[in-house]
Amino acid sequence: MRSPVIAAVVLLLGSFLLHGADAGHRPKPSFTAIFSFGNSYADTGNFVRFAAPFIPVIPFNNLPYGETFFHKPTGRASNGRIILDFIAEAYGLPLVPPSLDTTQSFSKGANFAVVGATALDLSYFMERNITSVPPFNSSFSVQIGWFEQLLKTSLCNNTAKGKCDDYLKKSLFVMGEFGGNDYVFLLAANKTVEQTKTYVPAVVKAIAGGVEKLIKHGARRIVVPGNLPTGCIPIMLTLYASPNKADYDRYGCLDKLNGLARYHNAFLRREVMALRIKYPGTKIAYADYFWPVVGFLQNPANSGFDGSTALVACCGAGGRYNYNVTAACGFPGATACADPSRAVNWDGIHLTEAAYRDIAGGWLRGPFAQPPILSLAR
Ligand SMILES: *[C@@H]1O[C@H](CO)[C@@H](O)[C@H](O)[C@H]1NC(C)=O
Ligand SMILES: *[C@@H]1O[C@H](CO)[C@@H](O)[C@H](O)[C@H]1NC(C)=O
Ligand SMILES: *[C@@H]1O[C@H](CO)[C@@H](O)[C@H](O)[C@H]1NC(C)=O
Ligand SMILES: *[C@@H]1O[C@H](CO)[C@@H](O)[C@H](O)[C@H]1NC(C)=O
Ligand SMILES: *[C@@H]1O[C@H](CO)[C@@H](O)[C@H](O)[C@H]1NC(C)=O
Repeated sequence: MRSPVIAAVVLLLGSFLLHGADAGHRPKPSFTAIFSFGNSYADTGNFVRFAAPFIPVIPFNNLPYGETFFHKPTGRASNGRIILDFIAEAYGLPLVPPSLDTTQSFSKGANFAVVGATALDLSYFMERNITSVPPFNSSFSVQIGWFEQLLKTSLCNNTAKGKCDDYLKKSLFVMGEFGGNDYVFLLAANKTVEQTKTYVPAVVKAIAGGVEKLIKHGARRIVVPGNLPTGCIPIMLTLYASPNKADYDRYGCLDKLNGLARYHNAFLRREVMALRIKYPGTKIAYADYFWPVVGFLQNPANSGFDGSTALVACCGAGGRYNYNVTAACGFPGATACADPSRAVNWDGIHLTEAAYRDIAGGWLRGPFAQPPILSLAR
């Protein structure tokens, strides 16, 4: 019933979102707008519009996606809000609308993120005969093209150049996460983790190149998220399960996959430092997805999570990690756990609203972003 494309898309989703801030400590809005780029960890409804003509059933269009906060599916790959939503709330701005929703106004921001998006272009994979990448053309550079289009046709149309520069200067740019999907597709093309590591410089270069392009357009306050601990994510634990206990760390995560994510993150942090030096008028925060998620496994109770299911998807159709590619969340046969606020992982790939809220708090106020996002506007 489900096409290989759907299966591929479900596999790809590999990205993450976060969430955020306490409604209680709301600073005065000090950004005019938020612009976001990324994959399924940041998509707020683009993929469900973008892919509708090609895919008969999109899981994110079905409950229980969205059940917790919106009480209906919104195209977000979670039960509720994602990190970007909590950032917007913390700044008193509207939830960032998906750029493909043409009924929306984008004067307070637009979200170009799309489920399945990669840092590297589709042509990069095609030229190398890597066919595990779904045929959607939605990479970071394509998303930047959409942003440029929006600048020209609406955001900065009829606006004096200086006024537009000021508008972008007062906007927050959130760039990702990117890279998680690039590695998921390379692994799906049967590359070893060691072989996949050789792509990290190209992936990070694509991310840094995109950031630089936006700086040239006028971006001055930028958040660059790293990768999640892929080895702790139910889909990866299921697809790359090993009979060898030595392949797992003390939390039950696949060590080599986490090594790949750490390698990417170290590389990305160096690139971020180089960009800060090259563009002294900018403030660029590195936001960490890796250690907060590992923290949920180390001390689940600290964040109100049930430690016995910290590696198990809340929504699924059974199996060791409650992830089954042929009966994934949003499809018949899959159901959500009774209390998603006690679960880290939502659908085998993405996190729950509760997990995103916790991570967003660490990004906004520290310690998981350097500098903390709330300090960027000051
Ligand atoms: C993807 O879209 C971009 C910009 O719209 C275009 O330049 C590029 O050729 C497309 N790539 C593929 C593989 O279709
Ligand atoms: C990709 O596949 C085509 C057709 O099989 C082949 O001609 C080409 O050399 C391959 N390219 C690479 C980079 O492997
Ligand atoms: C600016 O916007 C107006 C109306 O929205 C439109 O007619 C015009 O073509 C736009 N100009 C540019 C340069 O896109
Ligand atoms: C990867 O390996 C599996 C098992 O050997 C094989 O079935 C599959 O076709 C391979 N996939 C690719 C993209 O080469
Ligand atoms: C996955 O779901 C399919 C369809 O419901 C089912 O036939 C299959 O047994 C399940 N696989 C596992 C490993 O649970």
